[in-house]
Amino acid sequence: MNRRLWISGGLFMVLGTFAGLRFNTLADEGVRPIPNTLGRSVDDESAPVMHAKLTASQRVLEGLLNRDFKTISTAAEILSQLAVAAHQHQEQDRDDLIYEHFRTEFIRLSEQLETMAEDENLEGAAYVHQSLTATCIACHRHLRDRDAE
Ligand code: HEC
Repeated sequence: MNRRLWISGGLFMVLGTFAGLRFNTLADEGVRPIPNTLGRSVDDESAPVMHAKLTASQRVLEGLLNRDFKTISTAAEILSQLAVAAHQHQEQDRDDLIYEHFRTEFIRLSEQLETMAEDENLEGAAYVHQSLTATCIACHRHLRDRDAE
């Protein structure tokens, strides 16, 4: 009897391990790398910064949905800091006036978003968030066009 208990106990452990592995596989599938939207590889140094940008803009949306102004202002502050820091990385972008225009606009909008969140202005914050997203797309589009030249 004892022996049978041991065997069934062992079987549960094996099954449990398999279930755990399956769970891990599912989790890994959920964290696939972000597709290369620029059509060129991002170097190891800038990749974490770029992913932080994406995460921060998702946090803004999360804050807007929950009417959580603290989350919006924190994420907006991160976005403006990332845009300021990005400048130091990109040698080739320093002489590109269009890139500079989008970067400056991005910083202006993220600072404005922070103010809107501090004023607890949900509609204003939602509006600025949309302009910010438009600037993401516009700058990326410009980079693609520039690379295609
Ligand atoms: C002023 C221009 C500019 C703006 C605005 C901008 N980006 Fe980027 N982004 C870049 C550049 C430049 C790179 C590529 C960096 C490199 O090649 O190392 C990049 C890369 C990325 C990547 C990595 C793409 C990949 O190839 O894996 C993500 C993700 C990203 N940006 C998200 C965003 C999001 C989200 C926003 C808006 C919240 C945004 N970016 C706004 C310039 C910009």
